[in-house]
Amino acid sequence: MQISFGSSRAIGPGAWVVGVNDGGVLSLQAARSDEAAGGALKRALTFSRFKGQPGQTIELLAPAGVNSSRIVLAGLGKGEKFDGAAAERLAAGVVGRLLASGEETLTFAVDLPKRSKLSEAELATHLALGAQLRSYRFDHYRKVGEDEKPTLKNVVVVTKAAAAARKRWAEVAAVGEGIFLARDLVNEPANILYPDEFARRMLGLKKLGVKVEILDVPAMQKLGMNALLGVGQGSAHDSRTVVMQWNGAPKASAKGKAQSGPLAFIGKGVCFDSGGLSLKTAAGMMGMKGDMGGGAAVVGLMHALAKRKARANVVGLIGLVENMPDGKAQRPNDIVKTMSGQTIEVLNTDAEGRLVLADVLWYAQSRFKPRFMIDLATLTGAILVALGTEHAGLFSNNDELAQRLTRAGEKEGEPVWRLPLGDAYDRLVKSKIADMKNIGGPNAGSITAAQILQRFVNNVPWAHLDIAGVAWQDSEQKPLAPSWGTGWGVRVLNRLIADNYE
Ligand code: BES
Ligand code: MN
Ligand code: ZN
Repeated sequence: MQISFGSSRAIGPGAWVVGVNDGGVLSLQAARSDEAAGGALKRALTFSRFKGQPGQTIELLAPAGVNSSRIVLAGLGKGEKFDGAAAERLAAGVVGRLLASGEETLTFAVDLPKRSKLSEAELATHLALGAQLRSYRFDHYRKVGEDEKPTLKNVVVVTKAAAAARKRWAEVAAVGEGIFLARDLVNEPANILYPDEFARRMLGLKKLGVKVEILDVPAMQKLGMNALLGVGQGSAHDSRTVVMQWNGAPKASAKGKAQSGPLAFIGKGVCFDSGGLSLKTAAGMMGMKGDMGGGAAVVGLMHALAKRKARANVVGLIGLVENMPDGKAQRPNDIVKTMSGQTIEVLNTDAEGRLVLADVLWYAQSRFKPRFMIDLATLTGAILVALGTEHAGLFSNNDELAQRLTRAGEKEGEPVWRLPLGDAYDRLVKSKIADMKNIGGPNAGSITAAQILQRFVNNVPWAHLDIAGVAWQDSEQKPLAPSWGTGWGVRVLNRLIADNYE
């Protein structure tokens, strides 16, 4: 789908989208269209309950007097509440309806409502992003019926600030591409996307100027990453760790910024989580092809940063394994020695993400001396119990980082909610026979998992995002994410960097 920005306000071919304000008040563009169509819009309003409510639309097909094939009236709601998220939802809603409708061209001629805090260029790029995100499809494994095939080819956003919008869009579109990449990875089944294949796909980032290194099993053995390797040892597919580096900060930046270490993002990349010998139930295994959602978000982020040439030095590391039961698989009660030297008693082989992250966090910290580390992981079912599918869980040893992440999440529609850490929780993972065990008791499962991670973080500012509730969606669909994999994380992390570290 091609997205462009224009300033021509002549009612055009294809579908023409105009805004209706709260109470059913036509926007300027809507009034002009109404005039051109001989009053058809006002007539339509009188026959409908539609009063410009946000998220609602009515459609006029083949209106007389104009060369549009349809006019869509989209509710804007109250102006003061019309923000970027509202614009994105509006565009996404329209694209969702018209993607396979037979229309090829869709034009948004949406006037900025009075009292909205958005600028003209912001309105335009939020509409464009909403349209783009909703147009995602993951269709390469099925025959798509004729009537389902997308027909929409061009989206035009009419704006008074076309030049500024195009400039902004170059950056925003990069984030959109990163989200699509993350969704693709999460949607791929595990027979296709196993660790080595995941790593190979990351080599694609080289084209954008990202350095990519792949550590194979011998390399990880040499480093002593035995906790990660233990998780993968029951799989027919070898484990990998992938390191990506984007060095976009200006060389001799002011205040010695360049000297301080890179920003580090670490992703859980469990390509399939069967639970290992502590085998999951059939129902519990559903969706576990997506247990690499944290890793996917890190790849998507690196893509976005490189594509928009972010002025920051960033490293992304992903621990890639498949957790399977087998004659060679890790057993409950095994003790593994991590790269840090600390030992872990594995009481449940299904608590594997923390084992993978323990080594990758340690490696990231010792090799890169990062300014901060943020890990993303579909780590615990317990976070779904606590927060459902609305917020990701946030854990941090640093209030400033936690606040910045919270703010970035609010701005981008990827909200996070902070949960506590502390000694009393840390005690729950003490072991009699090793430095720690890999599970706590029956309670506070997301927190005890985070406590284990924290044992592999020294004095670096660190945050852990438990994204088990948001990386994919089972039943109801988020308006901006039409596929199972949501691509969660790319937006919030990109915003964190753009607002605070560039
Ligand atoms: N990948 C799962 C967590 C998960 C569960 C993600 C449901 C998404 C949906 C993780 O590896 C896991 O199995 N965690 C266990 C930990 C337990 C054994 C302490 C869990 O949450 O049940
Ligand atoms: Mn597991
Ligand atoms: Zn897992």
